[in-house]
Amino acid sequence: PTVLVLNGPNLNLLGTRQPEIYGAETLADVERLCAAAGDAAGLEVDFRQSNHEGELVGWIQQARQSAAGIVINPAAYSHTSVAIFDALNMFDGPVVEVHISNIHRREAFRHHSFVSSRADAVIAGAGTQGYRFGIERVAALLATG
Ligand code: DQA
Repeated sequence: PTVLVLNGPNLNLLGTRQPEIYGAETLADVERLCAAAGDAAGLEVDFRQSNHEGELVGWIQQARQSAAGIVINPAAYSHTSVAIFDALNMFDGPVVEVHISNIHRREAFRHHSFVSSRADAVIAGAGTQGYRFGIERVAALLATG
């Protein structure tokens, strides 16, 4: 089975983007971490990033055919996108939302995520380790049904 790992806007600049908040690891580092976590959990990892809301929506729609579960860091779209929320609601498998930073310790506008009301689990503030937790959780949910 495949887990789709989706990353939203500005995460392409991970490592150089506000490292005091998001750390020094790059998105390529996160991709490697996810591949290793997928190997360990028995899941194929399809890792993607986009700065475009519609592209993310399209990938979530395609996942209905191509993925068993989704790990998503919607980045800023967490707080704004009904379209990503709606797309995730048409996906039947497990969905885990990941935020590198603890969004609840930051500005008030980051405290609400549209995606959280669809997500089976939400991981925030665990750094890039959150992606590994997300993949492990998807594997566990797929195993138990
Ligand atoms: C983020 C938190 C969001 O509020 C922010 O817009 C991001 C990254 C995180 O991983 O901590 O781009 O999702």
